[in-house]
Amino acid sequence: MPVITEIEDLKRLHRRRAPRMFYDYAESGSWTEQTFRENSSDFDLIRLRQRVAVDMEGRSTAARMVGREVAMPVALSPVGLTGMQHADGEILAAQAAEAFGVPFCLSTMSICSIEDVAEHTRKPFWFQLYTMRDEEFTSALLSRARAAGCDALVITLDLQILGQRHRDLKNGLTAPPKMTVPTMLDLSRRWAWGMRMLRTRRRFFGNIVGHAKGVTDASSLSVWTAEQFDQRLDWAKVRRLAEEWGGTVILKGILDPEDARRAVDEVGPDAIIVSNHGGRQLDGAISSIRALPGIVRAVDGRCEVHLDSGIRSGQDVLKALAMGADACWSGRAWVYGLGAMGKPGVTAALEVILKELDVSMALCGRKDVADLDRSVLLVPKGFEGEWEDGAA
Ligand SMILES: Cc1cc2nc3c(=O)[nH]c(=O)nc-3n(C[C@H](O)[C@H](O)[C@H](O)COP(=O)(O)O)c2cc1C
Repeated sequence: MPVITEIEDLKRLHRRRAPRMFYDYAESGSWTEQTFRENSSDFDLIRLRQRVAVDMEGRSTAARMVGREVAMPVALSPVGLTGMQHADGEILAAQAAEAFGVPFCLSTMSICSIEDVAEHTRKPFWFQLYTMRDEEFTSALLSRARAAGCDALVITLDLQILGQRHRDLKNGLTAPPKMTVPTMLDLSRRWAWGMRMLRTRRRFFGNIVGHAKGVTDASSLSVWTAEQFDQRLDWAKVRRLAEEWGGTVILKGILDPEDARRAVDEVGPDAIIVSNHGGRQLDGAISSIRALPGIVRAVDGRCEVHLDSGIRSGQDVLKALAMGADACWSGRAWVYGLGAMGKPGVTAALEVILKELDVSMALCGRKDVADLDRSVLLVPKGFEGEWEDGAA
């Protein structure tokens, strides 16, 4: 078992062990990848205040996210095609999250189906919904998630249309991979991945194939996805979906204070996630950590404010919490772990984040994540950006 001390270790192994097209799929941002890069580099601009001679015994990272007790305020972001990074990926990640005591959120575009994940876990997980034109299919998805015991719905708002990621087009990304010469050459170097894939029956989009009308295989699926993502999505539809769900609702993909206010006024969610989809949608948008303070002010305590995009360490989590987030989500960090080592890799990613969060908190002179506030940080002047016509 390799020694894992940081998320970078998992990323290196993921790159080595998963087929190139799937590693690239995870590691891409849209267009120039400016937003993807700045999601991380903006975290680096914030420094921590080292404090000494503070009793640091009896620390706690335990918290609550939308009313659920969690071992630390970090959830696993919904990630599509995870069952292609490692066979049975969503099941393994959900099991790792459950054992660790943090929420797992299953993507609409998962390989393992909602029912399959429910069958292999004991506690409720969360379900992420992409809004589709086919309302019957959307309603069926919500019913299936409810029947499987999912106890929170995450509605993604920032992907009515797909941001272009050059590498996915160049690699001809499909699930399962099409057997072209470059793909076969690549797979010949990833035989352990291939052996595991041969042993599982979970190789297609489990929530869709066999459930959506007319979708029976991967090729009809790509046509279906292009046609189905709902470009007409508006706040009225988001409100209808939230009402139809009738339980805990989290709105994901908010990056602007004006949208945050509208989300609260028009939908009244339990939480919003400040997110730019990990830099995969609107390249040129600001990083989540820069957007966070303005959104916290706009929401003014009317719902929880979570953050994702750019979390690669426990220190990033600490910074986000101290800047006003109630909790964080992480996508790539756990996907690297999964691609590297399956379930133990996801656990390793969570352990790395927890340890860094705990030790950094102690060295900042705090004993509880609930006590993290701006006074543990050194934030550069003008960090939020002084934009002409910037939304207030
Ligand atoms: C490979 C990949 C696939 C993703 N698929 C989905 C998805 O199916 N649904 C969704 O709401 N977000 C999806 N996201 C976005 C994540 O939920 C999350 O917002 C993002 O990964 C956070 O940024 P981070 O990777 O820097 O932590 C995906 C992200 C990645 C990297």
